Amino acid sequence: MLDLSKFQATGRETCFHGRHLGAQIYAGLNGSNWHLQDYLARGGYSALKKILGKDGVEGSAGMTPEQVIAEVKLSALRGRGGAGFPTGLKWSFMPRMFPGPKYLVCNSDEGEPGTCKDRDILAYNPHIVIEGMAIAAYAMGIKTGYNYIHGEIFEVYERFEAALEEARAAGLLGDDILGSGFSFQLHAFHGFGAYICGEETALLESLEGKKGQPRFKPPFPASFGLYGKPTTINNTETFAAVPWIINHGGQAFLACGKPNNGGTKIFSVVGDVNQPGNFEVPLGTPFSQLLELAGGVKGGALKAVIPGGSSAPVLPAKLMMDLTMDYDAIAKAGSMLGSGAVIVMNDTRCMVKSLLRLSYFYQHESCGQCTPCREGTGWLWRMVDRIEHGRGRPEDLALLDSVADNIKGRTICALGDAAAMPVQAMLKHFRDEFVHHIEHKQCLVGAAAHA
Ligand SMILES: Cc1cc2nc3c(=O)[nH]c(=O)nc-3n(C[C@H](O)[C@H](O)[C@H](O)COP(=O)(O)O)c2cc1C
Ligand code: SF4
Repeated sequence: MLDLSKFQATGRETCFHGRHLGAQIYAGLNGSNWHLQDYLARGGYSALKKILGKDGVEGSAGMTPEQVIAEVKLSALRGRGGAGFPTGLKWSFMPRMFPGPKYLVCNSDEGEPGTCKDRDILAYNPHIVIEGMAIAAYAMGIKTGYNYIHGEIFEVYERFEAALEEARAAGLLGDDILGSGFSFQLHAFHGFGAYICGEETALLESLEGKKGQPRFKPPFPASFGLYGKPTTINNTETFAAVPWIINHGGQAFLACGKPNNGGTKIFSVVGDVNQPGNFEVPLGTPFSQLLELAGGVKGGALKAVIPGGSSAPVLPAKLMMDLTMDYDAIAKAGSMLGSGAVIVMNDTRCMVKSLLRLSYFYQHESCGQCTPCREGTGWLWRMVDRIEHGRGRPEDLALLDSVADNIKGRTICALGDAAAMPVQAMLKHFRDEFVHHIEHKQCLVGAAAHA
């Protein structure tokens, strides 16, 4: 059973209370209304009924798969898993006439440090993901789907299984859904907690029962995916956005965000804030407003922000305070919106120590297949470790930069880049702290605090 007590301790607050602006996925949630009857009461499954022509509207012919894909393209929905790839375009890559099995996969692995949104969607609004996946399956002519859920959140996996049972019993999943002739079987699968299994091809290997290691690409999953068959993989939040698009139209979704950045996005605001948690706001919302929603900075002044999960380059406070939270604005500033985890750091944080923690994570999670990542991530970690502990050498900063450069773009998957980019961003924006550690064998932040 999920324990909601931490959200309801005041009797007034839930995990959603005051945590959204213009909510699409969080609309009407109170932390306990996740069942099918609650979702139906909120208008749930009306989008699926609409495309299947089963919405009770007289003469409704439903929507063709091409019309569904066109609507998703118009919405400018971009993948919420990290890369921000346009979802409608990805769906159009699926060879719809392929004569044989094709698969739809939901990526609920969510291992990016700082990110905790997908587990909340699955726990508190699981049917929105089921409906989104059923719509996607219809659009791409797919009959079988899997939701790959991170292994360390077993209660969320159980919640999703329960929701699947409800949907099957109501004829919303399975054969001949609502008498439309469209069939879609959806299953849940749990991983075992490896970060690398969030990379889409490692996920497919793991789903096939093999060691979760990324595949060489090309071929891409659209042509050679699960069991070697055409496969489309999207993030949990990406699927959760789809019912709203079908109900309200792609244009309305686009209008609620920014051009090329449609809809709302759930940000996991974590670190030095007074009220950490998940916040759903329209893309393009100023960072300062998001920070305010999260109760403002705790324990000091704002120093820096990692705006898109631990793989995203850090940005200093001054830059962040002028930014809006959307894919293009953050990329222009030199970072990434990524998975939407906003890691807030106050001015008591030492950047050398912070980078040490990040570097430890990446060397630990490298699957070891490619030499630049396997050797390079360990090398980066050991160098940052000696700088942090007063054993750094003046030449280490150039060496850190060069090792990071030699990992980037030379690996099978993007974990290598994810390990290298934070190092270079820290050196770019906070070099003085690294120099101080090397020259004085102590921390600049600590020294300032004790001056
Ligand atoms: C190391 C690594 C870890 C990843 N982890 C996740 C993850 O936990 N969840 C996720 O949706 N995407 C993750 N991704 C991105 C996926 O490979 C893929 O791009 C995504 O699931 C596609 O869905 P989207 O287009 O809806 O974003 C990861 C990528 C890498 C390189
Ligand atoms: S980049 Fe790292 S995690 Fe990715 S395949 Fe290569 S060794 Fe494995």
